Amino acid sequence: MKSSWHNWGSIEAVVNEPLGAFGWESSWLSVILMWLLLPINLLVGAIGGFVPFVYQGLSSVVMCSVQLGNPFYMMWIWWSYTFTLLTALVANSMSRLGLFLWERQAFGNGDYFWHGEGIWATTHPICNEILKSEQLRGPAFGAVTAPVPDLFPTKILIFLPNVGSDSEWKYIRSALHDTFLTHGAKAYQDRLVALREHVAQDWKNVTLQEMTKDVSRLQRLVAKSVFFMMLGVWIAEEEADVLTGWRTNASLFILPRLTQRFIFNYGINKVKKLRVDTVKIIEKYQLQDIFSRMNDFLPVKYRRDPVVRLCDEIMYVIGFAGIGGTSAMCETASAFMQVTTPKEFPASSVSFSRFDSAKKMIEAYKRKPFDYFKECCRIDPPVTSATSILKEDLAAVLGNSRHTFAAGTYRQYCLSLANRDPNVFKDPKVFDPTRAELDQALTWNGAFGTPGDDKTYPRLCPGRYLSLDVATTIFNVAVNREETVQLSPAQPAPAQPAPAKP
Ligand code: HEM
Repeated sequence: MKSSWHNWGSIEAVVNEPLGAFGWESSWLSVILMWLLLPINLLVGAIGGFVPFVYQGLSSVVMCSVQLGNPFYMMWIWWSYTFTLLTALVANSMSRLGLFLWERQAFGNGDYFWHGEGIWATTHPICNEILKSEQLRGPAFGAVTAPVPDLFPTKILIFLPNVGSDSEWKYIRSALHDTFLTHGAKAYQDRLVALREHVAQDWKNVTLQEMTKDVSRLQRLVAKSVFFMMLGVWIAEEEADVLTGWRTNASLFILPRLTQRFIFNYGINKVKKLRVDTVKIIEKYQLQDIFSRMNDFLPVKYRRDPVVRLCDEIMYVIGFAGIGGTSAMCETASAFMQVTTPKEFPASSVSFSRFDSAKKMIEAYKRKPFDYFKECCRIDPPVTSATSILKEDLAAVLGNSRHTFAAGTYRQYCLSLANRDPNVFKDPKVFDPTRAELDQALTWNGAFGTPGDDKTYPRLCPGRYLSLDVATTIFNVAVNREETVQLSPAQPAPAQPAPAKP
């Protein structure tokens, strides 16, 4: 078996490769000037982060800079803009949802607002159209050029375009699915049965209160569960602790290179270490063969060299989307079940008027666990938005003026706002897992649960069933240790549509 690990390579070498392209605004010269002019930057930033029309004005200059290709003479605007965004985030309880709601309002509550280096789509119809289409993608995150290859691997799946029938995205996604995520397969169902036992043993006295009190332990349990379902190993407590970094470092992934450098690459170094430590767990359990075989499935032109590069890319999405996303969902669900809200969520953005006691919440969960989680995530999506790229020029109104955005401009689709579009969701703030339009929520990158969802939405999250199975397994133990609540069936009932290959 070991012979197939040839050309495995070194993860340290991969994360330390030469940097990808970035503009003048992210140069060290820009960082030094940003520090030297800190008082002015802070002052302008503080005003911009509180006063909507100043915010809109600063954003318009940033937009101009982006349209000019971020030239040397425009780098100053990024310094105060960085503090503007930070101030607005803090002013909105550190909640990204709160920030987006505020930004949309600052831009007149239209279809789009500007943030970072791109436009952000706010309505359900626009986000839905993007999700159904072939999307251009690139190394960009939060509508900002992503720091690669240090903060993100350059060719991670979410950065690959799904355009044409021979795309790299298609082959990687299909290999990922075949290797790890065949939901209906016997191996998956066997692991799910074993998972119930592991979870019950791991945290014997888990209750909902314990979950919200000891969030780190909940995150470790999610990390162990996702790792087990995908790779078949129940990892040790300290290894799970490493993997929770994919959730706890969430705020570092969103910072562009300028901000990363401004804080002396503290965030980048932390994430680099996380990537290295994650691959070390794979190496410790001698799971390299899985990735070697997966690499061999790929057409020669798309194979990774060395193989550890593929392992890093896959573990990145498993960590970032899989562990981070599922942890976030469990944190929200455990809080909502106790009729309270999780950290970093503006309490005024949800109403529990229809389920106003823990008893009603638990009954709703027991009736339909998947629907319960779907509604939690509609209200508080673990992945709030994603970055697509305009394939052709687009005319759009921002604030009071009409602009044309050239093909190639980042267009973020904002799932957290689309999931609250009042034209689709009746009383969008009201928590109601029985709502008729529940499956229209775009949380898992498409209307998960609608007929033919995986055909309609090419990039629908491949881990959607896994995330729900893991969460249901954990919550079943917490909610009622004896009672059996319906788990993900191998042959799903009509209410839970059948899984299918992407
Ligand atoms: C509640 C939990 C989860 C939510 C809400 C969620 C949501 C999403 C969303 C919105 C995307 C699109 C991101 C983008 O295109 O930039 C995505 C992509 C992805 N997710 Fe999930 N996810 C969850 C759990 C998981 C799990 C458990 C796994 C696997 C272990 C997973 C694997 C992936 C992968 C591989 C992609 C990239 C798909 C592609 O680009 O084609 N996710 N997910």
